[in-house]
Formats: sequence, C-alpha cells, structure tokens
Amino acid sequence: AIERTLSIIKPDATKRNLTGKINAKFEEAGLRIVAQKRIRLTKEQAGKFYEVHKERPFYDELCEFMASGPVVVQVLEGENAVAKNREVMGATNPADAAEGTIRKEFALSVGENSVHGSDSAENAAKEIAFFFSDLEIVG
Ligand code: CMP
Repeated sequence: AIERTLSIIKPDATKRNLTGKINAKFEEAGLRIVAQKRIRLTKEQAGKFYEVHKERPFYDELCEFMASGPVVVQVLEGENAVAKNREVMGATNPADAAEGTIRKEFALSVGENSVHGSDSAENAAKEIAFFFSDLEIVG
C-alpha cells in the first residue's frame, strides 16, 4: 500500500552539506518527498519528539545533538514507505549498515547517524503530525 513516513536529516548531515545526496537516495528508491522544511529544534522540542527514549542512557546526548544544528524534516511517500525508508537508511549503527545505504555511506557513529525514520506506520502518523499540518503535505 502507499504509505507516508517521517524522515529527519540530522545535524551531522546538514553540517556536511549532504541534504541533496541523501534526498537523491530517497528518490532513487522510489520515495517521493511530499513535504520538507529545514528547522532548528530546541533541546526541549527534541526531547518531546524522542520521548519514547527518555529512559535510555543516551537520551540526553541524543536531544543535545538533535538541537546542535539545523535538521531537515520531511514526509516521504511511496509503496511500503516505512519499511522502504528503513532499508534505504540502513542499520542504526553505521558499523552494521549494508553497502549502499545512507548510514553506511554518510553516518559518523550510532549517535551521529545522519537520518531518522519512523519505525512503524502508527509512529509515522504521530511523527508526521508532530512537524506538519495537512496543508503542508502535497502528494
Ligand atoms: P533514531 O532512528 O533517530 O532513533 C533514536 C536514536 O537514538 C537513534 O536513531 C540513534 O541515533 C540514537 N542512539 C541509539 N543508540 C545510541 C547510543 N548507544 N548512543 C547514542 N545515540 C544512540
């Protein structure tokens, strides 16, 4: 089925001017960028977005990092978009990521791993609503 998923190009990638190269990976995989904006999150906003991870030991570091520079938040649309995007991103830890994936090519570490993608259709709906109104998404 045609799905939508939330993607974030993280500060390590925007700083290294990789937005276009990462977007090319999405488009080559058949994902359409149907909404996109470059924003700077506060640590509080990052904390709210990643609330599910608040008990994890890396939570504070994660929120600090996500607020350390610009991010590009985007909605990707396509056939099985949630799973497709996770395939294109590769494993969370770049050391485990497959050849040709975004994290294999661009990520610096498990924390500075260049991209975020929703892990389920249910979370995708919540994460998209966190950043975008319906009017901002043009399919
Ligand atoms: P993301 O898909 O954005 O969802 C949660 C993030 O937490 C994950 O990608 C990683 O970047 C980050 N993360 C996971 N494990 C660690 C870790 N051990 N140290 C720092 N960050 C981590």
